[in-house]
Amino acid sequence: MSIIKWNKKSYSVEVQELDDQHQVLFNQINDLYEALEGQDSDNTLDELIARLLSTLRIHFAVEESLMRILGYEGYAPHKVIHDQCMGHLRQLEERFRQGDREAATELLQYIHAWLEGHIREHDRAYSEHFLSQGPGGLLKRFW
Ligand SMILES: [Fe+2]
Ligand SMILES: [Fe+2]
Repeated sequence: MSIIKWNKKSYSVEVQELDDQHQVLFNQINDLYEALEGQDSDNTLDELIARLLSTLRIHFAVEESLMRILGYEGYAPHKVIHDQCMGHLRQLEERFRQGDREAATELLQYIHAWLEGHIREHDRAYSEHFLSQGPGGLLKRFW
């Protein structure tokens, strides 16, 4: 069962590694959805939430590094959006850890909607710039 499904047409940012990371995030969101649907234990939910936030933190850092290295002018506002998202998720995670089970559902709904919109609106905006950098594209040489 899944609530979020990656497809190239809607979500590809044209960089394989970043597409792969987005798909890992989609899978982890689906895992959390299944755990909530299946009434899994608080321990399981806690682990899935921690894993999702950790993957997201790494993903944001990778995107932000590439933006800086490749001189992307949209870096600063993009980073603000990442930071706001992470701040909100941390609050929800903390509420869940304090015993508010509803916070896990809120977290799932929030990240589901946020990630779909963010990739389409903000991540896809860096593709052209990333792929235009360096002979043959800096990214293509490494990734
Ligand atoms: Fe992203
Ligand atoms: Fe992003």
